[in-house]
Amino acid sequence: MLSGTGRTLVNLCARISAGSLTARIVVVISSRADALAVTRARDFGLKTVIIERRNMDSEEFQEGLSAAIDAASPDLVCMAGFLSLWRVPKRFAGRVINIHPALLPDFGGRGMYGERVHRAVLAAGRPVSGCTVHYCDNEYDHGPIILQRRVKVEPNDTPATLGARVFEQELAAYPEAIQLFSDGRIRLDGANVIIDPPGHVSAPKP
Ligand code: GRF
Repeated sequence: MLSGTGRTLVNLCARISAGSLTARIVVVISSRADALAVTRARDFGLKTVIIERRNMDSEEFQEGLSAAIDAASPDLVCMAGFLSLWRVPKRFAGRVINIHPALLPDFGGRGMYGERVHRAVLAAGRPVSGCTVHYCDNEYDHGPIILQRRVKVEPNDTPATLGARVFEQELAAYPEAIQLFSDGRIRLDGANVIIDPPGHVSAPKP
């Protein structure tokens, strides 16, 4: 699920074709028809579905998203720069994840995306930033944390330079989390994330 430029999608596609990520993208859902990510998805030959937030009332939008996802019956739903909230139906509990370009729970929430995140980190004078992969609940950038990767904030960082360094970590973090799912090594137990060591499998493999 995405709304933006699609660098995250491109990375996942590249890793899948390189054989380093065991996954298949069954559908790409965008909340914006004009997102660059949609063009990129089509270039990869992926099926795309547009559910335009601005053309629908909120309930219609929620139902449209759920119907599009049900139709594709994915094992896992990955948000990749999706700028709206999808109210996760119970049947998808523990199967929806997101990546955020900061160390949650700080610097997340509605309207906290793109350079705004890095500007806020710099304004707060934080020495360290990074990215977070987490299970989604029904709040923006919220839910049990799967993994985080950190970067040092440099004295002369701008939002753009910090964002680029964080994104480098995102390129590794998201595939790593998806591979855990693909290997059946990760599950949610209430609010706790259980990750099995390599070779152990306690979650059903999709
Ligand atoms: C990434 O920084 C991701 O962490 C956040 O949205 C951004 C998506 O970028 N959730 P892109 O559209 O994949 O280029």
